Amino acid sequence: MSIKKTNTRLEKKTSKKAIPGKKVKLSRDEKYRLYLGSVQNPEADIQFINKEYKAIFGKTPKSLREDFCGTGLLACEWVQQDKTRTAFGIDLDMEPLSYGVVNHYSELTEEEQSRMKYINGNVMSAYDFKTDVVVAFNFSYYLFKKRSELLQYFTSVRKHMKKDSLFLIDMFGGTETRQELEESVKHKNHTYYWDCSSYNPLTSECMYYIHFKTHSDGIKHEKVFKYDWRMWDAQELRDIMTDAGFSKTVIYWEGVDKDGTGNGKFRSATKAENCESWVTYICALP
Ligand SMILES: C[S@@+](CC[C@H](N)C(=O)[O-])C[C@H]1O[C@@H](n2cnc3c(N)ncnc32)[C@H](O)[C@@H]1O
Repeated sequence: MSIKKTNTRLEKKTSKKAIPGKKVKLSRDEKYRLYLGSVQNPEADIQFINKEYKAIFGKTPKSLREDFCGTGLLACEWVQQDKTRTAFGIDLDMEPLSYGVVNHYSELTEEEQSRMKYINGNVMSAYDFKTDVVVAFNFSYYLFKKRSELLQYFTSVRKHMKKDSLFLIDMFGGTETRQELEESVKHKNHTYYWDCSSYNPLTSECMYYIHFKTHSDGIKHEKVFKYDWRMWDAQELRDIMTDAGFSKTVIYWEGVDKDGTGNGKFRSATKAENCESWVTYICALP
């Protein structure tokens, strides 16, 4: 799981320093509760998906495939919002999936549950269904470090699309994201830390961690989530999508408020300011 996803750019709070904490292991539920309370914004993602799909195809999307779905929060929210929608959430790891079943899926009505399916599987595998939208959010595909692996993944996604399907990924970058730096965001009951522990400029490989501090006991839980990733560039990603057979790719850029922070409104762009930290989307058409 990954970087905080907000409608605004990340705020740098502290430089890298260790805050001592007792070693106390968080339970599965505590760990995902803290994560979900820090990083996900499914409503904003769904709004963006609907807006872009409608702008391109002139209709609303009904079916969603959420790759690297983790707890499947987005897929559950998708079916809950509209009774004509269906969703599939795919993830290799039973730990987040089981949290999702107990905490998100169980909150759905029986009818909503009939339209949502968790798949404990690999995003590279062949599936017998195609959807209007495929998403890979929270930068999960950064785990593919080789161009050939990413090409294989994009090619597989492309094979699971119809002529009116859309593939959407998010990405992050900026001058600060390739530095050893720890950022923090304070929430009501906990503080979230996004820690770039190392970056290799020769390979673009990086190691990121998420830590949490629980305010009730003051303990900083270190390395609750670990991300061994490669940083990808926007143009590189679009080139690989083209090689995977996508006919068109669009990259977006977030508008800014008067104070210079992101306003949550993403528009297609070809040129952008080289800011310290940014999050955006790329969409690809079959
Ligand atoms: C960064 S987390 C993102 C989870 C979720 N999208 C979110 O926003 O919270 C990445 C997830 O990808 C899953 N994953 C890694 N490789 C995968 C693969 N080849 N196929 C399916 N899931 C995979 C991991 O188990 C993990 O849950």
